[in-house]
Amino acid sequence: MYLVTGATGSLGKRVVRYLREQQQPVRAFVRLNSRYGDLEQRGAQAFIGDLGHERDIQKACQGVSYVISAHGSNSDGGTAQSIDYRANIDLIDAAKANGIQHFVFISVLGSDRGYDDAPVFKAKRAVEQYLETSGLNYTILRPSGFASSLIPLAERYQQTGLYLLIGDPQTRSSIVSTDDLARIAATAPQIDAAKNIVFAVGGPQALERGEIPKIFQNLFDREPILINPPVLAIDGLRNLLGMFNPELKAALGTLRTLLAHEFYCTSDEVERLQTTFGFQLETLESFLRRYLSV
Ligand SMILES: NC(=O)c1ccc[n+]([C@@H]2O[C@H](COP(=O)([O-])OP(=O)(O)OC[C@H]3O[C@@H](n4cnc5c(N)ncnc54)[C@H](OP(=O)(O)O)[C@@H]3O)[C@@H](O)[C@H]2O)c1
Repeated sequence: MYLVTGATGSLGKRVVRYLREQQQPVRAFVRLNSRYGDLEQRGAQAFIGDLGHERDIQKACQGVSYVISAHGSNSDGGTAQSIDYRANIDLIDAAKANGIQHFVFISVLGSDRGYDDAPVFKAKRAVEQYLETSGLNYTILRPSGFASSLIPLAERYQQTGLYLLIGDPQTRSSIVSTDDLARIAATAPQIDAAKNIVFAVGGPQALERGEIPKIFQNLFDREPILINPPVLAIDGLRNLLGMFNPELKAALGTLRTLLAHEFYCTSDEVERLQTTFGFQLETLESFLRRYLSV
């Protein structure tokens, strides 16, 4: 039995889908208020709980052989401290207590760079270190940005031609197909060469962020109207919001870090992924074409 957390998220639902396509038994950790009907229709068992509650985590791990931790703090409650950090520590402890065979953790590219102003990055690094010394078999995946996050931007572009690019258009990012990442996460427990390894996970191209509107232009045959404020604009917004909501200010530190730095994989890292997992990674354009039917 595979336990997948974050099973209603962009990545988690694809992990569940992939595992079910392979006829694997899956327990999907979901919240009562989330939309999980599709997961059940695919044959996954819905475990209703909250990752903020240790007892739910302990119960969810019973009778499980593999854990894929694909959850993350989002706008619907939960912080980097409670969801990205504490829930994963509780999950690792429960996995150990239940003699789980393999634990897959979704971290983030750059978690080891010491970004001090980015709570999610700090939480991910602390969890990686805890997992590495836990005695469990593990695979740590450090992905760059997900291609699925660009679908709503592409849809807006298709209608308006507008593209908001905050920061330097020349910073590079290896946007990864969310389907490829899901396949890597789902198969890691069965691949010997992925045991106790940390992988940087990115798509096959290190794209400059300014190239993304050009891909949209190709897809939709429409000239971009580029709005390109500097990262300093985020700083101004953070300081303003921070006067009313210090937690939001801290959370925006992660966004600022993402906008201000490069997140790409080297060609050696891409090759290593393709060799270990045995398939060719798809480009951002190919991913978008499949989802947007263009
Ligand atoms: N998106 C990216 O570009 C990116 C890049 C690098 C790394 N990552 C990492 O990849 C992972 C997956 O990201 P994603 O974009 O797929 O996330 P997402 O779409 O925001 O989904 C987050 C998932 O976590 C669940 N969750 C949050 N709080 C919970 C709680 N208290 N109890 C139970 N479930 C809870 C959500 O459930 P609900 O549906 O109930 O809200 C949802 O299923 C995260 O760890 C993220 O940090 C993401």
